[in-house]
Amino acid sequence: MIHQPVLLQAILDFLKKNEISPLNIVDGTFGRGGHSQALLKEYPNSRVLGFDRDPESVEYGLEHFNQEISTQRMQLIKANFMDIKNISKAGFALFQNQAPDFVLLDLGVSSPQLDVSDRGFSFYHTGPLDMRMDLEQNLTAAMIVNEWSEKELSDLFYNLGEIKFPNKVVRAICHRRKDRPIETTTELSDIIVHSDGWRKKGKHPATQYFLALRLKVNNELENIENSLKGLVEILSPNGLLMVITFHSVEDRIVKHLFKSFKDMGKILTKKVIQAERLEIKDNPRARSAKLRIFQRGEDLCEE
Ligand SMILES: C[S@@+](CC[C@H](N)C(=O)[O-])C[C@H]1O[C@@H](n2cnc3c(N)ncnc32)[C@H](O)[C@@H]1O
Repeated sequence: MIHQPVLLQAILDFLKKNEISPLNIVDGTFGRGGHSQALLKEYPNSRVLGFDRDPESVEYGLEHFNQEISTQRMQLIKANFMDIKNISKAGFALFQNQAPDFVLLDLGVSSPQLDVSDRGFSFYHTGPLDMRMDLEQNLTAAMIVNEWSEKELSDLFYNLGEIKFPNKVVRAICHRRKDRPIETTTELSDIIVHSDGWRKKGKHPATQYFLALRLKVNNELENIENSLKGLVEILSPNGLLMVITFHSVEDRIVKHLFKSFKDMGKILTKKVIQAERLEIKDNPRARSAKLRIFQRGEDLCEE
């Protein structure tokens, strides 16, 4: 499936309404480069420094954005956005050592990551229980499912999956793995379906279990918690940090962190921005997307 950049029009409308034309853009979650490409087109003087922790996203970008790269309008780096602040200390050559005036994070996984069965993110495709965004890291979903204790699994599904009563599923997992390890996505989702059944129409019973595993495998919540402050600090005065989330757990973190940054600037989205009906019809993934925007103040002193 092609990755459609979520809330793209909302972002462009926001920038236009506020008469902001970004010049030095950091895309911390490059993916398929959908947002980056549209921003480069809309702002002909801009350039994009794109980061992704998934080497396949970076490879895709290097292949498909050849022209932008050769004309020095784009540079791609395989890195976690958690490390951007550190990387920025050496100065961004692409920006001629100027600070970025726009940082975008579009969190979670991209449609291609979900659709390639080998990556193990989806219960709709049989693949290894992997779920790593960064293929160089060690921990996989299979290791959690097969090696964690019953209590650890229950806590994980309760806290990150927001599943009130995960015990039946956890018991079924622990019972089943005594015979042989659970190795594939569909083996796991079958166990969940058999022990939990379909409770909510239209929502696969494995959804929240897979989400919890993915968040843990990739340390996604910790990455957000440990990054946002640094990303505001690298912005130029009045620069913008935009964050798109897809789940209540991560949105809550962004909301609270933005509030705690009150000495560094201001929140520009008193009301969170969500997709219009038309976008959701076209791209159901946009249904749960929430965009929050923070603007760095004029006189932030860096430590
Ligand atoms: C929702 S997709 C982004 C899609 C992109 N905006 C587009 O329009 O094509 C999220 C991407 O961010 C990457 N990602 C997630 N967490 C990351 C992190 N902590 N550091 C760097 N990249 C990350 C994923 O590998 C994935 O490719």
